[in-house]
Amino acid sequence: MDHAATMTNKPVPHDEIARRRTFAIVSHPDAGKTTLTEKFLLYGGSLQLAGSVTARKNLRATTSDWMELEKKRGISISSTVLQFDYHGFRINLLDTPGHKDFSEDTYRVLTAVDAAIMVIDAGKGIESQTRKLFEVCRRRGVPIFTFMNKMDRPTLDPLALLDDLENVLGIAAYPMNWPLGTGVGFKGVWDRHTKMAHLYERTSGGAHRAPVLTTGLADPVVRDRLDDDAVYRDICEEIEMLEGAGAAFDPDEVLAGRTTPVYFGAAINNFGVQLLLDGFLEYSAAPGARMSRTGSVRPTHPDFSGFVFKIQANMDPRHRDRIAFVRVVSGKFERDMTVTHVRTGKKIRLSNATKLFGRERQIIDEAYPGDVVGIVGNANFAIGDTLAEDPTIVYDEIPRFAPECFAYLENPSASNFKRFRTGMTQLLQEGVVQSFHLADRAARRTPLLGAVGPLQFEIVQYRLESEYGASSRLQNAPWTVARWLDPAAPVKDLPLPSGACLATDEQGRPVLLCTDEWGLQYFQSHNPNLQIADVPFAIESGASG
Ligand code: G4P
Repeated sequence: MDHAATMTNKPVPHDEIARRRTFAIVSHPDAGKTTLTEKFLLYGGSLQLAGSVTARKNLRATTSDWMELEKKRGISISSTVLQFDYHGFRINLLDTPGHKDFSEDTYRVLTAVDAAIMVIDAGKGIESQTRKLFEVCRRRGVPIFTFMNKMDRPTLDPLALLDDLENVLGIAAYPMNWPLGTGVGFKGVWDRHTKMAHLYERTSGGAHRAPVLTTGLADPVVRDRLDDDAVYRDICEEIEMLEGAGAAFDPDEVLAGRTTPVYFGAAINNFGVQLLLDGFLEYSAAPGARMSRTGSVRPTHPDFSGFVFKIQANMDPRHRDRIAFVRVVSGKFERDMTVTHVRTGKKIRLSNATKLFGRERQIIDEAYPGDVVGIVGNANFAIGDTLAEDPTIVYDEIPRFAPECFAYLENPSASNFKRFRTGMTQLLQEGVVQSFHLADRAARRTPLLGAVGPLQFEIVQYRLESEYGASSRLQNAPWTVARWLDPAAPVKDLPLPSGACLATDEQGRPVLLCTDEWGLQYFQSHNPNLQIADVPFAIESGASG
């Protein structure tokens, strides 16, 4: 069922929607996400010089180098949105934090994209984070494009890499091009669509677009560039086999998330980057409809609506404030417009809306579906909130994920109390970690914190200290498994395995905490009729209350 429009006098230009692409790059750390981002900006004309140390440092500074911790640990803990134009498209690239362990922040960013590019280190194949990120994309039905990176180094066999996608991730893989050589002998790719070889030249430090010669496979220049005749013959055979084998490319299967188009290349020296970008833009979709509680809302719906998918305070020490990132779903956003904050029912004027290119802030006058608007300074916004001109539009809650690590965070000194509390309240609102209350009244009063990965606790401690001047003491708790229980079921006297306990989440929903998987299995076998889940049960009512 479609959500009916209430007003018809402000049509949203179709071409503004059609030219937008909103996506994220996902990868295991070190596979090349940052490098590829940088190269996209180079091809989009937003970076004059990529790859050079200065440009790279600059990029790091403009994208994700806001926090000392990032420098210290070499990780990115904040994320941003890069917007750039390329060949008539307006591209919104949402940066996902590249932790070595997992964070919910990444999941949430993925609720705001229409597609993902998965970067794989072709020397390593599918790694643990790739698998998790892929799973999140698949659950949401997000189309996934694959970039087999680092072909300039020794790699796994390209056919084995494709097999891995099919066998490990369970998605059909369609190679859009085929590598011409590997390691130092990697000279380019053969494009299956145009049936042309793209032979690249390196530029110093990959600072400029790679000059490319496009020619037929039979052209002697292809053979000359490759290491020797045997390599050329092997490649010709592989290509013949590819063409003779599989089914034809079906763009609808890509949009349905059932097939991933695979591109080979080396981001570092720009080999294959443009083919990836062009292919992605051709086969990915413009922003589409999104489900709300009253039906699906199309981007062309004349009323503005959007949802908050990320909140972050103190992103930039020069502007110590709080930004809520809103993904526009329908209608046109205009500066100073008044919308309803649907959860509270309050009318809000959106006067302080900004676009960020790293540290640079720019006031936004208008934005269209697919765009991300940063609303500065409103303390009432929470993750998942809907902002809409038509208050009957309510987007679904953004799911929380079952934490796998638990700890208490204590305030070690009385004089610290206020700073500690302010900082904790803010960080919980940002969703950096989740908090739980133990059902056992004798339990300590400090809330129990839960995170998907232990690094999140470090981030909380670090940010408490650096942004709020509050020290803290972390004490690990024994649980490693959390499951939400049916909120409608009586849970008070349930038999629990040893070490397990009952708690409630921030919304008061019951949660079971176990010390291990065995405990969970015990609980399930003794309570076979109780519904349990690794994500919270939806709250049915009170959406606009
Ligand atoms: P990430 O964001 O996914 O964590 O990866 P990032 O782009 O930072 O790349 C990780 C390392 O891999 C970097 O090397 C980067 O230069 C290198 N890299 C990226 N793409 C390619 C590629 O196509 N080929 C090769 N050979 N290397 C690639 P680093 O030494 O850690 O950093 P830097 O000193 O180069 O900045």
